Amino acid sequence: MIMVTGGAGYIGTHICVELLAAGHDVVVFDNFCNSQPEAVQRVEQISGRKLTLVTGDIRDPVALEAALRQHAVKAVIHCAGLKAVGESVEQPLAYYDNNVVGTLRLLEAMRAAGVNTLVFSSSATVYGEPQYLPLTEAHPLSATNPYGRSKLMIEDILRDLHRSDASWRIGILRYFNPVGAHISGKIGENPRGVPNNLLPFVAQVAVGLRSSLNVWGDDYETPDGTGVRDYIHVVDLADGHLKALAYLQKQGGLLTVNLGTGNGYSVLDMVKAFAEASGKPVPYQVMPRRAGDVAACYAEPSEALRLLGWRAERGLDAMCADAWRWQSGNPNGFASS
Ligand code: NAD
Ligand code: WQD
Repeated sequence: MIMVTGGAGYIGTHICVELLAAGHDVVVFDNFCNSQPEAVQRVEQISGRKLTLVTGDIRDPVALEAALRQHAVKAVIHCAGLKAVGESVEQPLAYYDNNVVGTLRLLEAMRAAGVNTLVFSSSATVYGEPQYLPLTEAHPLSATNPYGRSKLMIEDILRDLHRSDASWRIGILRYFNPVGAHISGKIGENPRGVPNNLLPFVAQVAVGLRSSLNVWGDDYETPDGTGVRDYIHVVDLADGHLKALAYLQKQGGLLTVNLGTGNGYSVLDMVKAFAEASGKPVPYQVMPRRAGDVAACYAEPSEALRLLGWRAERGLDAMCADAWRWQSGNPNGFASS
């Protein structure tokens, strides 16, 4: 039995689908602060299998330990957390509490229940301002906002924990920019309010929910002046978790890998690809730079290939086509059903 904290969220639901397809039993532990139970039902529809749902907060050690024991959990994939950079600047305590304290409680509950295998949702945000590209796992770590600092703190806690007790099996997966959706169109990203991230915003413009995209700056030192990122299909990302789990179950140790494609695409590349995939216009206007943005960020993904035998398989067309299938079939997210 594998526990997925935050398993009702965007990335968690896609991980659950891949786990169920690979024959794992799954328990989702989520407090639905940024997701809906409907998402879990959709996972079951796609999979043709049931999973176990525990509604709870990772900061509740009693509920966590009970769930770990009751369901005989062997490993935890830990996706639960808050993720909005701007909100983290306004509400730092909420971010440190949810992300850092929540992870501490989870680790304590795992220790109490005798579960020692953890895969953690980290982020390329821990590299801070890139000093070189592509980003290798050896790039110096830093953070530029409370969200990023919470991820860096958790990584440090995990490294200290492993140093203190090498029987822990810990995978730190540094995601680049997850986009796209399951090919069924039944699950996908469902942001509350105005999307902060590029692709959900573009998708809402294409479907007619918003009139046009603000492109945050076209004067960066990039080929077309707009920001360059390493967008990775969420199903490839999910598959990386299964590979990391298999690695940890076989080898143990502390694993730290980038999950990216190694390709950088600009904002305008994404707009063009999405307009083509959807057949809809994506009007935009260029605005001043967004505070805190870097010009370019993309992964050196070869460590994940070397250690896990994992590489991203899906290209930009699939990312946009799958995001469009989800968005156009569910214009109001899970509320549509
Ligand atoms: P999401 O908000 O869709 O999913 C997170 C899930 O965790 C939600 O279902 C939410 O209800 C749940 N949750 C939050 N706090 C909780 C708590 N205290 N107790 C129980 N459940 C809680 O976000 P996502 O995009 O799926 O991200 C998953 C993880 O990946 C996060 O840790 C995020 O920081 C990390 N990550 C995301 C991105 C991205 O761009 N989406 C990039 C890098 C890393
Ligand atoms: C991508 C590009 C924007 C929106 C963030 C977090 C990071 C990680 C992933 C969790 C940039 C441009 C965007 C818009 C735009 N999350 N853009 N108009 O900033 O790379 O990363 O999400 O770990 O920590 O910081 O992703 O999708 O917000 O932006 O022009 O309306 O699109 O300037 O160049 P980012 P993003």
